[in-house]
Amino acid sequence: MLFRDSKGRRYLVRLAAGGRFHSHAGVVDHDQVLGQPEGIEVRSATGARFLVVRPALADLVLTMPRGAQVIYPKDLGAILMAADIFPGALALEAGVGSGALSMALVRAGAHVVGYETRSDFADRARANVAALVAGERVVTGSYRIEERDVYEGIAESPLDRVLLDLPEPWRVLPHARTALVPGGIVLAYLPGMQQVSQLRAAVQEEGFGLAETFEVLVRTWHVEGRSVRPDHRMVAHTGFITTCRLLAPG
Ligand SMILES: C[S@@+](CC[C@H](N)C(=O)[O-])C[C@H]1O[C@@H](n2cnc3c(N)ncnc32)[C@H](O)[C@@H]1O
Repeated sequence: MLFRDSKGRRYLVRLAAGGRFHSHAGVVDHDQVLGQPEGIEVRSATGARFLVVRPALADLVLTMPRGAQVIYPKDLGAILMAADIFPGALALEAGVGSGALSMALVRAGAHVVGYETRSDFADRARANVAALVAGERVVTGSYRIEERDVYEGIAESPLDRVLLDLPEPWRVLPHARTALVPGGIVLAYLPGMQQVSQLRAAVQEEGFGLAETFEVLVRTWHVEGRSVRPDHRMVAHTGFITTCRLLAPG
């Protein structure tokens, strides 16, 4: 379950009979929560208040164990739409990292094959996706990770989608061209504009078209009584999202 304190901090807690949640603000017995409805408020031994709900996918992404940098929820939502992810889609994802994007894809019903060069990251992603699937109340897609270098080729075919979060996605385009169905979508997530420029140049050379690049800015608001205004802080930059589609030969 997710415990939210009065400052909005998130704590992911796996409940067990007789267990205890230790926080900076005192201890909460799991038995206070077990069997209770979602949305209850509990107090720690020192009186601190926590609201308890099932974690949403965004909560899991922000609190789950991670090795590599994850893609943030604001971008994950846009990626699902930009890559036109649908239930049953066969998607190749590389690199997998901590599995945040994997979780969003599997949750949306895609069948995902992940390529990841680091075995420790692959293990972490498998565990994170398994934890998501175990807690789901809807049918999810399937998930498999291969420990391999996507720059050396793609074994799966025919793919509906290829999603890339690694430094040189242009090196994957020749492989994606032979693995994708006609009209299939490649989406790349990149932190820098120079990488985006290099990718966009390769898109044309490799037989892809309809390229688009955008970023996602989310500005949250402070709403308290008559004080209603944008929050003072926001995440200004995470990554640029580029999509393109495989065109017919010639
Ligand atoms: C930024 S992380 C991906 C994070 C992931 N999208 C998430 O949301 O959790 C980039 C990953 O790409 C992997 N990687 C880099 N080059 C690769 C390659 N050629 N083939 C497969 N994986 C690669 C790295 O090991 C790293 O785990």
